[in-house]
Amino acid sequence: MHWYEDDAFWSDFSETMFSERRREETAELVARSPLLEFAPGARVLDLCCGPGLYLVPLARRGYAMTGVDLSEVMLERAGAACAGAGVDVRLVRADMLKHVEAESYDVVLNVFTSFGYFDDPRDNLQVLRNAHDSLVPGGRLLIDVLGKEVLAGWIGRPQLVDLGSAYVVQRDTVLDGWSRLRTDWTLVRDGTAREASITSFLYSGAELRALFEQVGFTEVECYGDFDGAPYDQHARRLIVSGIRESSGRGEEER
Ligand SMILES: C[S@@+](CC[C@H](N)C(=O)[O-])C[C@H]1O[C@@H](n2cnc3c(N)ncnc32)[C@H](O)[C@@H]1O
Repeated sequence: MHWYEDDAFWSDFSETMFSERRREETAELVARSPLLEFAPGARVLDLCCGPGLYLVPLARRGYAMTGVDLSEVMLERAGAACAGAGVDVRLVRADMLKHVEAESYDVVLNVFTSFGYFDDPRDNLQVLRNAHDSLVPGGRLLIDVLGKEVLAGWIGRPQLVDLGSAYVVQRDTVLDGWSRLRTDWTLVRDGTAREASITSFLYSGAELRALFEQVGFTEVECYGDFDGAPYDQHARRLIVSGIRESSGRGEEER
């Protein structure tokens, strides 16, 4: 089993990744982000939606939301969050490597470093193709990852996340000449340690932009934060946005 298929990993480390604080911050971010402002009633696919941190505020903003995730546990949590918030969201269990709904969405989102999980770079490219094909012509794909340039600013220092009743130590290691990143996590609760390692591809702004262009996206732009700031030395994230050509033409050779 690959690390990303392990439901226990996502649920054991969920307090770190999907904390209540992050849920509140995400709701604020969605309310003010110009990058998340779409046409009224836009059909939006949140690819790798996790427990629905973006689904709820985006549904409240009036978009017709679909959340796709591979993890049953994450989808259950997303369903509970949406029900609790009184928003109607479609949830689908699927693998991003295979999931395509032809020309069904105005926007596809893939956020909080949910891209680059596959060992074979062709599979990661396939995810971009799937997103391209799921968009209507003129639709937008937006991917948010931790760019290489951002990571280079702070990597090397292990991080400690205090969860109150537990804590998590996170250590990052750059692999293969800045191609990939391994993150080792140790969760300590009641004197017992639970360890996990994840490995995923890293992208610079130029590299992710080139992949978008390779699969046929146009108007490809890189941003450094959800406020629309440029991807420069102050960037906190790498957010790449591209438009499926109105003619519907994809890459030249598939
Ligand atoms: C880092 S979390 C981000 C979740 C969410 N986007 C957020 O902002 O909180 C990545 C999510 O991707 C899901 N995932 C991992 N591999 C996947 C795959 N192959 N297909 C679909 N979802 C996947 C995980 O279950 C997890 O919920």
